[in-house]
Amino acid sequence: MKITLSVIKADIGSYVGHNKVHPELINIAKRELEKAEKKNEIIDYFVFACGDDLELLMSHKKPVENPKIHGLAWNIFTSCTKKAKEMKLYGAGQDMLKDTFSGNVKGMGPGVAEISFEERPSEPVVILAADKTSPGAWNIPLFRTFADPFTNPGLIISPVMNEGFTFEVQDVVENKSIKLKCPDEMYELLAFVGTPGRYVIKSITRNHDGLICAVTSTTRLSLIAGKYIGKDDPVCIVRAQHDLPDIGEITEPYAFPYLVEGWNRGSHTGPLMPVSLEDAMPTRFDGPPRVVALGFIVSNGNLIGPLDLFKDVSFDRARERANEIADYMRMHGPFQPHRLPEHDMEYTSMPQIMKKLKDRWGKI
Ligand code: F6R
Ligand code: MG
Ligand code: MG
Repeated sequence: MKITLSVIKADIGSYVGHNKVHPELINIAKRELEKAEKKNEIIDYFVFACGDDLELLMSHKKPVENPKIHGLAWNIFTSCTKKAKEMKLYGAGQDMLKDTFSGNVKGMGPGVAEISFEERPSEPVVILAADKTSPGAWNIPLFRTFADPFTNPGLIISPVMNEGFTFEVQDVVENKSIKLKCPDEMYELLAFVGTPGRYVIKSITRNHDGLICAVTSTTRLSLIAGKYIGKDDPVCIVRAQHDLPDIGEITEPYAFPYLVEGWNRGSHTGPLMPVSLEDAMPTRFDGPPRVVALGFIVSNGNLIGPLDLFKDVSFDRARERANEIADYMRMHGPFQPHRLPEHDMEYTSMPQIMKKLKDRWGKI
């Protein structure tokens, strides 16, 4: 029997600014998913939030991109939006870009990561969610977990992992994808994924047997809406253990608070800070960007967990370093590389400024 895990998320309003999902909205989502579970539409669920993003994790027996599952998530986001509007929460309905649901939430605003598999004798998975950044934020850690032996010794030690992994990379601007096999095509892979604003790791399979190991959400809200309406804060699902990267090999890359695009006004570079669910509340300069990691065992579709993986004190140093890096980056104020290059900024007043001053430029 194939089990599918669907993580569908949206920013449908928060408080006080773009900081935290209100508990009332989380309760609505829980109540609706509880009903869906009772009606056997899903097997199990877990609702959580990372910053201003409401995250719905659902397990079920339907395939990926199923209209019933996507419709369920869409209806929950619609109910939450209604409540958010009633409460006058900030940015109510922000990611709901279309009025009517047409079978699939893709391209409608919410972010989606879905994976289908036959459960192994034990099926540990990690659900990652980030706020104040974009889908390319997974490029560094996924590369390190699935292709870098300095991060993942299993690539050397496990004969199965020794055969490597294949990365599917999406070009989010031209909407096409390519598969690159590691270790053979590692340099070609890096040539693309080093530009995380455009090339995003979409899925990873094991070379030994084609087993699906990881999937990410690759929505670009700004490309859907044609203008900036919020960051595409991404989610990711990774299967773990037994000839796949173990929990430690999945979490290890986050001990280094690498720089990501996003932060305030989606227009800055800043460190990604690994935090517990409780601390997933970015308020300093609307950040720094946060990431949470929740471990579950999938048992006949039931979700045993979560284990809040970044709650571990061994990530304290990463958080301290992230704060130091945040201080350092902030000192650059409106200058690059803290401020993103012109074309990557999600808010820009440049066209208006150019227009206003166009006659004031003189020839030299
Ligand atoms: C970035 C983010 C925030 C907002 C900022 C301004 O992803 O969510 O930093 O960009 O708070 O928000 P508005 O334009 O809604 O006032
Ligand atoms: Mg928001
Ligand atoms: Mg967000």
